[in-house]
Amino acid sequence: MRLALVLLLISMQMMLTSCTKPEPAYQWQLPPGFPEPVVPSDNPMSAAKVELGRYLFYDTALSSNQSQSCASCHQQQHAFAEPKKVSKGSTGQPHRRNAQALVNVAYNNSFTWAHDGLAHIESQLLIPLFGDAPIELGAAGQEQAILARLNRQPYPELFKKAFASNKPDFSQVVAALSSFTRSLLSFNSRFDRYAYQQDDSALSQEELMGLDLFFSERLECHHCHGGFNFTQATSHQRQPLDRRPFHNTGLYYTQRTDLADMGYPQHDTGLSEVSLNPADDGRFRAPTLRNIALSAPYMHDGSLATLEQVIDFYAAGGLVSTIDGQISDGRQHPAKSSFVRGFNLTTEEKQALLAFLHSLSDPSFTTNPAYSNPWLSP
Ligand code: HEC
Ligand code: HEC
Repeated sequence: MRLALVLLLISMQMMLTSCTKPEPAYQWQLPPGFPEPVVPSDNPMSAAKVELGRYLFYDTALSSNQSQSCASCHQQQHAFAEPKKVSKGSTGQPHRRNAQALVNVAYNNSFTWAHDGLAHIESQLLIPLFGDAPIELGAAGQEQAILARLNRQPYPELFKKAFASNKPDFSQVVAALSSFTRSLLSFNSRFDRYAYQQDDSALSQEELMGLDLFFSERLECHHCHGGFNFTQATSHQRQPLDRRPFHNTGLYYTQRTDLADMGYPQHDTGLSEVSLNPADDGRFRAPTLRNIALSAPYMHDGSLATLEQVIDFYAAGGLVSTIDGQISDGRQHPAKSSFVRGFNLTTEEKQALLAFLHSLSDPSFTTNPAYSNPWLSP
């Protein structure tokens, strides 16, 4: 009798399982030939998670005082960066760094400007959500209050579709936000049309001259901004290996003997903070250059306001500036990459390189309705 009941239950269970339609595989919006990103096996992509994540990304309910969302610092029209030197958290605390653009981050094998231990968006997100140095969204200790705010429309249905769940929790919030962030793909610049879609007329003569300069051994840009994302920090199904994409480009060097570090300002010495190796002083990740014309200001601390200034900086082989009344001569930094040697450009060449960098902008990315604020368009 008892066995019959168990068998009945098992067969009912099997019927139920075979009745629920399997979720169709997630469709990456990739041009032909591009490899799919590698996604953590415990958070596979689904259209339902991406849609839920999009609502969460734009929802100020995620910050404890309801003043800020992810999108406050990551704005679509700026390739999901923001036009500020450094960010400011929800309680007004300044961040020491410039908000990164979120472009093809699904391919990143490291996250933030200088960390080799954050391998997944899932772990990176915990910083803006829960971090207190500085407070960004300030969700630490506010989890129950924030989850209670997600009890409103259209969340119940979205959580049900994404997780078959009637009880949202923070692991679901993080999984959905990560999925949405992974969905932000940009492959439709004029450079893409030229390089990958066989459209020979997509770039002007001037832009082609800039392209040649970018990939030349004289300028060396491509060594660090290489591959289809113009960064070495890329992994995908066909290239799982990390190539240590962190470099010292010679932004700073103060020879202050009272400082233990090697010359970058102590409030941000880059990778050495994480590795505790002084030789990593000033090493930051070479970021993607896709949509770079849209995400000014530049560098980890937003210290260079324009792309012209960035080009002048590389041409000089580093930056000479003043920090707290001390001369800082980044050109002399002993850990500076040997690829940042400096070079001479004619005015025409500089304009051409600039034009090339502008050709990496993808207007279909910054206007893609699938990435836009869903609270504005019901
Ligand atoms: C207060 C402004 C601010 C808020 C709010 C914020 N971010 Fe960021 N974000 C930044 C800054 C600044 C960095 C660079 C951090 C660093 O290098 O230490 C960053 C980095 C990132 C990165 C790493 C990108 C890369 O290429 O490595 C991702 C992904 C990201 N943010 C997603 C999010 C998401 C999702 C949210 C919402 C949960 C969010 N951010 C909220 C400012 C912000
Ligand atoms: C040695 C490796 C290396 C070389 C060579 C190199 N870059 Fe960079 N690039 C980096 C790193 C690392 C950063 C970030 C540095 C920082 O924030 O301190 C960066 C930042 C940038 C930025 C700002 C990105 C942003 O999102 O703020 C631009 C633009 C840029 N590089 C363009 C170029 C161009 C053009 C060239 C060739 C003239 C070039 N790079 C050569 C490694 C390199």
